[in-house]
Amino acid sequence: MTQCIAFHSYKGGTGKTTLAANLAVLLARRGYRVSLLDLDVYAPSLQAYFEITPANWINDFLADNADAENILVDVTSTLDGLAHGNSRSGNSGQKNGGRLLLGFSNPKKEEIHKLEGIGGKQDKLQLLRKFIQLREELISTHNIDYVILDTSPGIRYWSINALAVADRLFLTLKMGDIDIDGTIKMANEIYTSFAKFGAKPYLVLNRVHGYCVPNPSVHSSSKANALHTSGLDVAEQTGDPDIADMLTSQTKMSVVSAIPCYCDIQFSRKEFLTAIKYPDHPFSMKITELASSDSLRLSN
Ligand SMILES: Nc1ncnc2c1ncn2[C@@H]1O[C@H](COP(=O)(O)OP(=O)(O)O)[C@@H](O)[C@H]1O
Ligand SMILES: [Mg+2]
Repeated sequence: MTQCIAFHSYKGGTGKTTLAANLAVLLARRGYRVSLLDLDVYAPSLQAYFEITPANWINDFLADNADAENILVDVTSTLDGLAHGNSRSGNSGQKNGGRLLLGFSNPKKEEIHKLEGIGGKQDKLQLLRKFIQLREELISTHNIDYVILDTSPGIRYWSINALAVADRLFLTLKMGDIDIDGTIKMANEIYTSFAKFGAKPYLVLNRVHGYCVPNPSVHSSSKANALHTSGLDVAEQTGDPDIADMLTSQTKMSVVSAIPCYCDIQFSRKEFLTAIKYPDHPFSMKITELASSDSLRLSN
């Protein structure tokens, strides 16, 4: 069975694209058929990452100017020749031969404006149908195992559509820069609704302490204050276990992964390939752990 995973967040810059892309390449390398779609329609970044200009964009599909089939670009060969640390786990009966198919959003300003137009004019249900259609076509035509969605932050029309078609919702938080109130509100108002329809929501804590950010030594009284203050001090929040506990109890979502801040991954131009290019890097091991977690297990 196919699984559709959406990386989402309340604020921008939490690591959605980095994590979505690395998970996608790792799963493809493991032998799964993966489709990674850039649904961050307001600030697309996959095209710049992969340095590909597709014949058709996701925008063309949403505007009824292209079929779902014609927006996908097979980048499996990009993965060839890179390190091959992670062989596929035998936890499901998948076919041999991983594939990675990408769908890009157009980063041109005028194209982003046009999308706003579509969202406003067209019947909103009609657009949700397009998202469902895209997912279904990926499954039926390409026999995809994992559809991975990179979404826009916050409660925007396009992010809600992406969340609505996902089976797993990965709410990504950047420790040290969390809008706690906004995140909890969004989790309780939006995620619980999707959970009622069968989606499983999880927290992904990104850039926690332990690698390039040292463990904070914080007194418990100042921690307690920090929870209710906006503009928190970075040291107060960084990897603070109390904040993680508070988030899990207030959102009723469990933490599927806590990924330290690895500033060195940012120096690679192809950071989206870190997980397979440098399989021994601790970041890659975290992505491997996530890929092997129960939350991603495919049921037959
Ligand atoms: N675990 C991490 N350690 C270090 N840097 C990270 C980590 N995760 C993401 N980043 C960096 O944070 C920045 C924002 O990440 P990005 O994936 O673009 O966020 P988003 O897609 O949520 O806007 C990028 O420069 C990326 O390299
Ligand atoms: Mg992004």
